[in-house]
Amino acid sequence: MAQVTIIVGSMYGNAENLALKVQETMQSQGVTSTVLMNATIDDVTKADNLLFITSTTGQGDLPDNIQPVFSQMQAQFPMLTGKKVGVIGLGDTSYGDTYCGAGKQLYALIEELNAALPVPMLEVDACEYFDPWEVAEAWLTTWVTKLR
Ligand SMILES: Cc1cc2nc3c(=O)[nH]c(=O)nc-3n(C[C@H](O)[C@H](O)[C@H](O)COP(=O)(O)O)c2cc1C
Repeated sequence: MAQVTIIVGSMYGNAENLALKVQETMQSQGVTSTVLMNATIDDVTKADNLLFITSTTGQGDLPDNIQPVFSQMQAQFPMLTGKKVGVIGLGDTSYGDTYCGAGKQLYALIEELNAALPVPMLEVDACEYFDPWEVAEAWLTTWVTKLR
């Protein structure tokens, strides 16, 4: 059975709520997962598969709870070769150039770390979707098929 470590970056709970919905849905598809609100580099290196779900705050910045693991990944550069990774970025196009900046920073770093990214990052625009699940459900279905 596939195992996924879900690493969440969230300021006000939207990304966290989405992560819990993702976990519940994957469970019903036979994929077990752990949701981490304060992940560390060890969680990243030990994971079989990784799913990052993060909002963007400030001006294209990572939420406070995911910044530490991002900084550790930048500093220690752990190769993620062989791990399947997905990124869901929550943002708002009304922020212009910094739209989904946190997810984009993560995705770029993960590419550099040589992870398998079988599905491009999902960008969820709060202007378009009141509930991120509306668009995340289909993306997740595709991503989960790539774990097998
Ligand atoms: C203070 C603040 C700054 C934000 N800055 C950005 C930004 O730079 N780019 C972006 O795409 N979205 C930005 N957003 C929108 C959030 O990413 C979006 O509302 C998201 O759904 C919040 O999820 P969360 O509750 O998990 O933090 C910002 C929201 C707030 C409240």
